[in-house]
Amino acid sequence: MTAHENVVQRISIVGTGYVGLSTAVCFASRGYDVIASTRNEDKVRIINAKRAPFHEPGLDEAVRTSIESGHLRAEIDRSEAVRQTEVTFLTVGTPEKADGTVDLRYVINASDDIGRALQLKNAYHLVVVKGTVTPGTVRGPIKAALEEASGLVAGRDFGLCMNPEFLRQGSAIRDTLHPDRVVIGEYDEQSGQRLADLLAGFYGPGIPLLRMSLESAEMVKYASNTFLAVKISYANEMANICERVPGVDVSEVMAGVGLDERINPRFLNAGAGFGGSCLPKDTKALCKFAEVQGYSAPLLRATLAVNQAQASHVAQLALATLGEPRDKKVALLGLAFKPDTDDVREAPSLIVARALLKVGAHVSAFDPVVKRISLPGFEGLEYPPSISECLAGAHCCIVLTEWEQFKQLTSDDFTQSMATPVVIDGRRIFDPHEFGSRLTFLAVGVGRG
Ligand code: UGA
Repeated sequence: MTAHENVVQRISIVGTGYVGLSTAVCFASRGYDVIASTRNEDKVRIINAKRAPFHEPGLDEAVRTSIESGHLRAEIDRSEAVRQTEVTFLTVGTPEKADGTVDLRYVINASDDIGRALQLKNAYHLVVVKGTVTPGTVRGPIKAALEEASGLVAGRDFGLCMNPEFLRQGSAIRDTLHPDRVVIGEYDEQSGQRLADLLAGFYGPGIPLLRMSLESAEMVKYASNTFLAVKISYANEMANICERVPGVDVSEVMAGVGLDERINPRFLNAGAGFGGSCLPKDTKALCKFAEVQGYSAPLLRATLAVNQAQASHVAQLALATLGEPRDKKVALLGLAFKPDTDDVREAPSLIVARALLKVGAHVSAFDPVVKRISLPGFEGLEYPPSISECLAGAHCCIVLTEWEQFKQLTSDDFTQSMATPVVIDGRRIFDPHEFGSRLTFLAVGVGRG
């Protein structure tokens, strides 16, 4: 079998999380025929009923228009999805194992299924891995699973590429349509060329497209996410130093630092630290991977340590203002690990809430989309239905997610309903100067004397 010359028009996506579904609707919006495949029957039903199965700005609308245009459908049968298309993007999750390494279970299982489907297909097919996997995984266990299940040979009978994804939750569709760069790791020239042609057609001119080895592409993803993690921990470390020096404000300092074009202002916001399903997991996984290669990765270890301590530091700031914590109420504004998502994975809010509950404080939390945390240990958390009810009678408020509606709050909103107006701004959303003298305003990471 050889690659046919036709331009790719039919695409299957295995996995319908943030990456899979965003990729699916974006291809569909540009006229490609897309089958999004998930084994979750509820998700298939929800997507085919023109809705997004999770909270992501613009995704509901994008799913609706894609389904209505006839360019997208969800399908439970992976084999069917692969057989009816020319390219398959593999986007299933690569979660973390207890030892910090990557759990390849879902990826290998999906590769087996794709391989079996390829066996039934009589045409060249390109398999593109999008999930975050450590260098050597695509050429190693993924290729082995595909070849074993299909009886075919990679590079000759089917194509194999690694195309890491850089989208952020909360801006998934915009990021998917307008990436800063596109990275293609290729098993062989034909696979790489075929994916390059598809993606050049999809993105149009102006977006740098880099072709490289599978392993380099796998590493780009880790190197990017860990750089972002390092940047945030750097900002938090500066914050912790600034906090000890009267008159220094880390936000002012980072504004001055970030305008150096070699540095740039993004990802220098000090606060409660980074959470989510990617930066913590990928930094841990790269540490582990480096260790196996005989390198201890001290910078990455320090990055994780600073981050872990940062959320605890926020909790400590609150506790220091409370005195005896029993019978005191603490209001948490924000539970999601960042705005515009309902995701609480590795969110700093979990560390803060746990520390406060542990010492017997009454903890109330309000988040515009996260309605409760259903993890063990958070049973004592209360969820009032509005910001004002969350703040009512509180002795301390901690801002943990920079939701737009929190940014609109004024000092009056706090002083009018709280028992003691103490605000720990864990995301640096308020200007301390603008908060009136009636409010005791504590800002995390800021040494204001
Ligand atoms: C991150 C990367 O930014 C994406 O490029 C990547 O594709 C994605 O992981 C992934 O691997 O899938 P995401 O986890 O959605 O995206 O969120 P980020 O915007 O990176 O924020 C992560 C955390 O860092 C949040 O908790 C955020 O509050 C925190 N953060 C971010 C800071 O504390 N300070 C900052 O200056 C920026």
